[in-house]
This record gives sequence, structure tokens and C-alpha cells, in this order.
Amino acid sequence: MINHILLTTAVIIFATCHTTTLSSPVKAIYWSENQIFPPSSINTSLFTHVYYAFLFPNNLTYALHVSDATASTLTNFTTTLRAKTPPVKTILSIGGSNSNASLFALIASTAATRASFINSTIQVSRTFGFDGIDLDWEFPRDSNQMNDLGQLFHEWRLAISADAVATRRPPLLLTAAVYFAVDFFLSSTPPHKYPVDSINQNVDWVNVMSYSLRGPWGNVTGAPSGLFDPIQNISVSFGLQSWIQGGVVPEKVVMGLPLYGMTWQLQDPNVHGIGSDATGPGPGLNGAMAYFQVVEFNNQSGAKVAYDVETRSVYSYSGSSWVGYDDPLTVTVKVAYAQALCLRGYFFWAAGFDTSDWKISTQGLGNLHEIGDCVKLVICAFFIKKTCYLDCWRE
Ligand SMILES: *[C@@H]1O[C@H](CO)[C@@H](O)[C@H](O)[C@H]1NC(C)=O
Ligand SMILES: *[C@@H]1O[C@H](CO)[C@@H](O)[C@H](O)[C@H]1NC(C)=O
Ligand SMILES: *[C@@H]1O[C@H](CO)[C@@H](O)[C@H](O)[C@H]1NC(C)=O
Ligand SMILES: *[C@@H]1O[C@H](CO)[C@@H](O)[C@H](O)[C@H]1NC(C)=O
Ligand SMILES: *[C@@H]1O[C@H](CO)[C@@H](O)[C@H](O)[C@H]1NC(C)=O
Ligand SMILES: *[C@@H]1O[C@H](CO)[C@@H](O)[C@H](O)[C@H]1NC(C)=O
Ligand SMILES: *[C@@H]1O[C@H](CO)[C@@H](O)[C@H](O)[C@H]1NC(C)=O
Ligand SMILES: *[C@@H]1O[C@H](CO)[C@@H](O)[C@H](O)[C@H]1NC(C)=O
Repeated sequence: MINHILLTTAVIIFATCHTTTLSSPVKAIYWSENQIFPPSSINTSLFTHVYYAFLFPNNLTYALHVSDATASTLTNFTTTLRAKTPPVKTILSIGGSNSNASLFALIASTAATRASFINSTIQVSRTFGFDGIDLDWEFPRDSNQMNDLGQLFHEWRLAISADAVATRRPPLLLTAAVYFAVDFFLSSTPPHKYPVDSINQNVDWVNVMSYSLRGPWGNVTGAPSGLFDPIQNISVSFGLQSWIQGGVVPEKVVMGLPLYGMTWQLQDPNVHGIGSDATGPGPGLNGAMAYFQVVEFNNQSGAKVAYDVETRSVYSYSGSSWVGYDDPLTVTVKVAYAQALCLRGYFFWAAGFDTSDWKISTQGLGNLHEIGDCVKLVICAFFIKKTCYLDCWRE
């Protein structure tokens, strides 16, 4: 029986990484302006980079808009994180899901608007002491916009190199938060793919937003960030592999991990597996809960917690409330998976959502090999009842 389960649910991956010098691993987290969870609360032993989310361009000048209040937050952010032990690199992120995608399309479309925008991003990053810049344009809508994005990255890299020469400082990092797959295969618009050549040449890495893949907007429960999807291709593994098959080198791919769950209201409390009918959002603000809130919810409601073998995800349910999320175990499996693909690392959305003792964020540090340090790796991960068995070893 055990052998049978092992055979049917084991994941076996062979990966051969480049033997050239490995880039240093990325373990990042986004911090969104937040009084309750100030930058000083971030345990910098757990991360290599902390992102400030977000600044926005002005819609007339295309320069970043920085109010006096924002200026003091930016200064506090970089100063606080640089002074911590160990220090951590800071990256200024521009855009986000609430920003205007059309404005980015407009900025990226002409040489003059690109130049104004790029100039301002470098100036603001240097003024406030950031180590890098991140673009979170959600999302380029067609192939023209993707071409423009490639051109934007190219000119950004030239400007960053020129700035490094002029200031005699290390070049700013340039990263981008991107869709979970390299092309928009789920959207109804003509398929369009990210400019992979420009990304390889100009961008330090991309943060693949491999989360919020499912939520209460769908009428059935599902894994919001499932590693596998046996029916559709809406999974972390499909998305990450698409980036690599699409041509981006694995050392420029960083896996996104959610520190939150999505919630549904079950149609029938007795039907509570993955794919059960649901009528809308469950508990939490707009059907979302930070991981620490999921832990509280599970405890206070006496919810049942279940691991789903097929998706390698975890969910809990109590009455008609249903929560799909990631926990320390599923994150351990995903980090091992990312290692097997020789990815650069992982990032979390967002600071303040983990438990106060950083239960999930510490998983990447556990007893697994350093991410980026993989030659040939075999992962075997499976769940039996509530126990996860994970083996990770190098040939
Ligand atoms: C930060 O995390 C490290 C690694 O898990 C741990 O050893 C340390 O105690 C933590 N520091 C604080 C202040 O929580
Ligand atoms: C710029 O944004 C402001 C405030 O949202 C708006 O009133 C204005 O119409 C916008 N201008 C352009 C050119 O988009
Ligand atoms: C950052 O802001 C916090 C809270 O306002 C304050 O306690 C701290 O001293 C500030 N740190 C720096 C380096 O400005
Ligand atoms: C977004 O930006 C575009 C281009 O500047 C502008 O036309 C549009 O009005 C903006 N939309 C919103 C909601 O501000
Ligand atoms: C931005 O443009 C100004 C004015 O042309 C120039 O002096 C400055 O060096 C530029 N800054 C960067 C970072 O390119
Ligand atoms: C759920 O949504 C799908 C796709 O939009 C639709 O085909 C199906 O009929 C819906 N089911 C229910 C129970 O509303
Ligand atoms: C999933 O992707 C694979 C490879 O691109 C394709 O062959 C398959 O048809 C896709 N499956 C679904 C359900 O879209
Ligand atoms: C669970 O709830 C009980 C009482 O409601 C509380 O005493 C306990 O500390 C909680 N445990 C956790 C892990 O939150």
C-alpha cells in the first residue's frame, strides 16, 4: 500500500544545472506600506532582498510621484533595513495590481516617455538609497505592449549601466514581477508572450506571481497556489516550467509564494474537497486571509485541515467556510521543486502575513540544500493522511 502511494504520487525530477558560477540565491519579500508591521519588524536573517511596494508614475510627467509623507517612509525603509543585522538589500517596486496598466503601456510606447520614466526611477532609487528597481506592470495586454516592454528593459539597462559608471557605484538591480506563465494562455485576447530575449539580456530576475491562481471568483474551491493541477494547467509547476521552456534561463526565474489563503463559502458543508461547489467568498477581507489569520481561524473554529495529494496544497474547512492556502509543509515542497528546476530563488507576498515567529518564511532555510546550489536533484514528496514525507537528495 505504501509503495503504491509512493509510486503514484511521487514527483521525480532530474535537473542538470549550469556548471558556471551560480548567481547568489534570492529569498525576497515584498513590504507594503503598513503601520502595523513596520520595516523594523522584518527578520532580515530570513531574506536577501526586501521590496518596497509601491510607487506610481505621474500620468503627465511619467516621473515617479513621491509625496513628502512617502519620502519619509522611503528613507525610513532603506535606513532601517540597511542598519539591521544582517543587512538586507532593498528594491523599489513600481506599479502593483492597483496601478494603471494603460499608463505603463503609454510610458513604454515612445522613446521620450520611456526616458522620462527611466531617468526618474534611477534618480529616486539613488536618492533614497535603494539597491534596485522592480517593475510590476499588471499586465501588458498584447504583443505590441510586450515588444515595448522589451525595449523598456533594454533602455533601462543602458541607463542603469551609465549611472553605475557615472556614480562609481554598483549598478542598480533591475527586476520585474510577472504573470505566472510566460504567455497569457488563459486570456481571451490573442496569446502574447513576455519578451524573453530582452529579459535574459537586461533583467536580473523575474518574480513569477505563482499565486492567486484560484479564488472565490470561481464557483468551485481550488488551490490558490497549487504546485500541480491534474486537470487544467493552472499550477505553479506549469507556470514555472513555461518560463523555462519559453527561453528564460532558470537563474533568472524566482518563484512566488503566498503568505495568505483564499476563502470560499461552500454550497454544501458536507461536500468540501478541492473542486466543491461554492457560492462566493468565505471569511476574511474579500475572501483573503493572511496566513496568521488562517492559523487563528483553524484554531478558533476547530476547522479540519486536509492535505491534497494531487495539488500538493492544504485546505481547511469548518461549517460552510473553506480556506485554500500554503503552510510550512507545502512551502517546503515548493522550495524543493524550485531547487530541482535550478531556479534563482523565491519571494513572498507579503511581509506581516506570516505568523509572528515566521513559520513559513523559515522553511526555505530548513534542512534543504541552499537554493541555487543544485547539481542533480531528486524530489520525492507525498502525503499520507496528514503526514508529509519529503526526501530531497543529490545524486
Ligand atoms: C530571525 O530568524 C532567525 C533564523 O530563523 C532566528 O535564528 C532568529 O532568532 C530570528 N530573530 C528574531 C529577532 O526573531
Ligand atoms: C491623471 O490622473 C488624474 C487623477 O486621477 C486625472 O484626473 C487625470 O484625468 C489624468 N490625466 C491623464 C492625462 O490621464
Ligand atoms: C522609522 O520609523 C519608526 C516608526 O515611526 C521609528 O521608530 C524609527 O526610529 C524610524 N527609523 C529611522 C531609521 O528613521
Ligand atoms: C490610466 O492611464 C491612461 C493613460 O494615461 C488614462 O487614459 C486613463 O484615464 C487612466 N485610467 C485611470 C483609471 O486613471
Ligand atoms: C536625468 O535627467 C537629468 C536631466 O537631463 C540628468 O541631469 C540626469 O543625469 C539624469 N539622471 C539619470 C539617472 O539618468
Ligand atoms: C461555474 O462556472 C462555470 C464556468 O464559468 C460554468 O460553466 C458553470 O455552469 C458554473 N457552475 C455553477 C454551479 O454555477
Ligand atoms: C497543458 O499544457 C500542455 C503543454 O502545453 C498541453 O499539451 C495540454 O493540452 C494542456 N492542457 C490543458 C487542459 O490545457
Ligand atoms: C488556540 O485557541 C486557544 C483558546 O481559544 C488558545 O488558548 C490557544 O493559544 C490558541 N492556539 C494557537 C496556536 O493560536
